[in-house]
Formats: sequence, structure tokens, C-alpha cells
Amino acid sequence: MNRNDAPRNPATTAPATFHVKSFGCQMNVYDGERMAEMLGTQGMTPAAEGTDADLVILNTCHIREKAVDKVYSDIGRLTRDDGSRPMIAVAGCVAQAEGSEIQRRARNVDIVVGPQAYHRLPDLIDKVGRGEAAVDTDMPAASKFGALPARTKQARPTAFLTIMEGCDKFCTYCVVPYTRGAEISRSWSAIVDEAKALVDGGAREITLLGQNVNAWTGDDDKGRAQRMDGLVRELAKIPDLRRIRYTTSHPNDMSDGLIAAHGEIDKLMPFLHLPVQAGNDRILKAMNRSHSADSYLRIIERVRQARPDIAISGDFIVGFPGETDAEFEDTLRIVEQVRYAQCYSFKYSPRPGTPAADMDHQIAAEVMDERLARLQALLNRQQAAFNAATVGRTTQILLERKGRHPGQLIGKSPWLQSVVVTAPELSIGDFVDVDIISAGPNSLAGETVRRKAA
Ligand code: 5AD
Ligand code: SF4
Repeated sequence: MNRNDAPRNPATTAPATFHVKSFGCQMNVYDGERMAEMLGTQGMTPAAEGTDADLVILNTCHIREKAVDKVYSDIGRLTRDDGSRPMIAVAGCVAQAEGSEIQRRARNVDIVVGPQAYHRLPDLIDKVGRGEAAVDTDMPAASKFGALPARTKQARPTAFLTIMEGCDKFCTYCVVPYTRGAEISRSWSAIVDEAKALVDGGAREITLLGQNVNAWTGDDDKGRAQRMDGLVRELAKIPDLRRIRYTTSHPNDMSDGLIAAHGEIDKLMPFLHLPVQAGNDRILKAMNRSHSADSYLRIIERVRQARPDIAISGDFIVGFPGETDAEFEDTLRIVEQVRYAQCYSFKYSPRPGTPAADMDHQIAAEVMDERLARLQALLNRQQAAFNAATVGRTTQILLERKGRHPGQLIGKSPWLQSVVVTAPELSIGDFVDVDIISAGPNSLAGETVRRKAA
């Protein structure tokens, strides 16, 4: 028997335990947390291991082919040694893009629920119990957020908060406008209330999320039209909220106000994830990015004028259809001009239904491999240089999690670097001043200033 055809254990019709596994972007992580909180209010409890849970939710990513393949191999792995399996829900962007097709490819999937419909999970679970089809990929006009229960207390000092969803940019390679739908901003009051609830629950750092987070717009509580910078200013007034971050941004939505905010709001961390994708104007046009390499560089320059120590991060795609060697070299050139603190880089992956998937001159896999290796070598050197430049500095970190060794804790610098300290007297959630004593490619080692002085 195909492992994807395994029968469901009838005892799990009304699941008591669940496990959510999120793939892909931080918005999926956020959605996964909201699903878990909702199931918690329904009386279900989380289970650590996927196959132990009565219900497993795979909160999927559709951005590249590899991410999609992973979902199907994960579904197969959910069959237990005795041949039974949990109730399986596929949520997220693969659910949205493939809908009931998923159940044709993997017959043991019970629920298919899109990213705008997961507030209806409890109904879908009931439907499975009644033996009915449980597929919901609606994009209802009313936002799911209003239907979800209020945030529950998180044990972590950092939290994500989705402030807008969807994308109207239609880059020709990207599935997001199709899977997440049109840009919709959450209301000012909903965001401020959720931020306050997160801070009351212990969050000290909030990362505002959106596919195009800096396109957020809304009216404030006095009815005045606001953009991201106004929202950040409002959130900065929450006394116990110490750090604000946001991701991901589009260059064309980098307003003057938001750039200025980086120089004016202390709580806004000096880190900007601003993808350019490629350094060649012909490719940028074919990608429908609606900005040029130069206009991107000018934005970076202005952001650096506002906040000289800001760390810049980005995303790149190599091997977009038709990309020549010379055009790829322009990507290396823009990387050299920007000097990134860290980046994500990908081989172009044709996505069904996107314009680029039908373009001529798709690039051979070996060419993409070689370009990606060259780009990543350069980006790695820049990341190492950025990290090395912080050695000898004293900075504040927010401790987020335990390290590998006893007494070790790991926190984040303002520039989003992981900093490892050995400080058994400290706890997760503490802010601590550290001297950065050494730098590796992916993390820094720090010594607490207090300890050194003693
Ligand atoms: N192929 C490769 N990378 C992609 N991205 C988006 N779509 C594709 C695709 N079809 C990358 C972009 C984007 C990041 C989230 O994923 O760099 O910024
Ligand atoms: Fe995709 Fe472009 Fe929208 Fe980003 S801006 S989500 S890359 S379409």
C-alpha cells in the first residue's frame, strides 16, 4: 500500500491533540501560532511529535517547487508503524494553490484549508467527523482575524504580528499574489490592540509582518490616513515594548516617512530586509519589479543617511528566464555596492500559473547552480565581514533561547545577529549589554559587560 493512502485511525475522529508544522515564511509561522491558539481554546492540547498527535496540520509554502515536494514527503511520513495515521490537514499556500487536487495526489489528506480560511478549522474538523469533504480555499471579504480568538500568553520575549497580507505587485515569478490574494491591511486598532496583548503576555520585541509590510495603510483612531511609519510611531508608545522590526518590504513602498523613522524612533531596530532580486534592469523589468537597480541603490543610500549603522538584508533570484552571464554579473555588482549584512538567495523555480513559467529561455540547472554558488560565496564574505566589524563593540541583546551548552543563552543584537553568551545568572527575556568578543559566519560570541567588570 502507498503510504499516502494509509487509512485514518477511526479513534481520531474527534482529535484531542494536535501538532502544527509550519514551512516557509514568517507569516506562516504566525498563522501556525494562531491556529494552535485557536485549537487550544477549543480544548485541544499540543503534542510534540507529529505522529503522536491526533491531528497534524502541515502549514505549507508554495514559493518554490522544493517547498511543495517537501509537503508530500512529509504527508507520507505521518503513517505510524502500525499503519494508522493522524487526521491530516494541509493548510497554507499549497492548500490555496492546489485545493482538492492535493487529495488526489495524497488520498490520506482529510482537510485542505487556505491561508485566509483557517479560522474555520474547527468546522472542517467536524466535517471530517461526519465523513464530509473538508476543503476550504475561500478568500472571504471579512478578514479571518476578526473570527480568531484573542492572542494567548506566549512564553517567548519575541513575537510576530501580521499587519497586512497579500500582494498587488505581481512580480512575474511569484505565486504570492495568487495564493495570498490582494493586499489587505489590518486596521490600526486591531494591530495596536494585538501588540498590547502580546506585550502584556511578555513580548518585548515585535516583528510586524506582511508580504509587502511597508505597503500597510489605514486610518488611525482619529480618522487620519496613516502609513507604516505612523503605525510604528504608535506602537513605539507601548511602554514595555522595547524593539520593533518589520519584514518584508518592497523598494517602491519605502516612503520618505518610513526612511526618516529609522533615524527618529529608537525602538525601530537598525535592520532592513529590502529585496532587490537582481541587479540588471532588463531582468528587473522582465520580473515586473517596477524599480531599477539605481533607484534601489538610492533608497539604500537614503536609509543609510537616516540610520548610518543600519544592517541591510535582501533576497536574490538567479537564473530568471533569459538571464545572460553578463546580466547575472550585474547582480554581483549590486551586491558589491550595497554590502549586505545577510541575504537569502535562490535558484529561479518556475511556478505554475505565473507569467515567468511560460517565458522562453529557461536557464539550465547547471548554470543556475554555478551562479548561485558564486553569489552565495560573495554574500557569505559580506556577512562574515559585517559580523567581524561588530567585534569589540558593546551592544544590547535580548535573550531569546537556551544555547547548546549549560549556562549558555542566545540573544539577538539590534542588527539581528545571534549572539551567544555564557551567563547562568540571566534568563530568557532579559536585555543585557555584551561586549562582542568574536564573530563566526552565523553568530557572534559575547561577554556580559556586568560579568567582565566583576
Ligand atoms: N523562484 C525562486 N525564488 C522565488 N522567490 C519568490 N518566487 C520565487 C521563484 N519562483 C523568492 C524571492 C522572494 C523570496 C521570498 O522568495 O526572492 O523575495
Ligand atoms: Fe512576490 Fe513580488 Fe509580491 Fe514579493 S512583491 S510577494 S516577490 S509578487
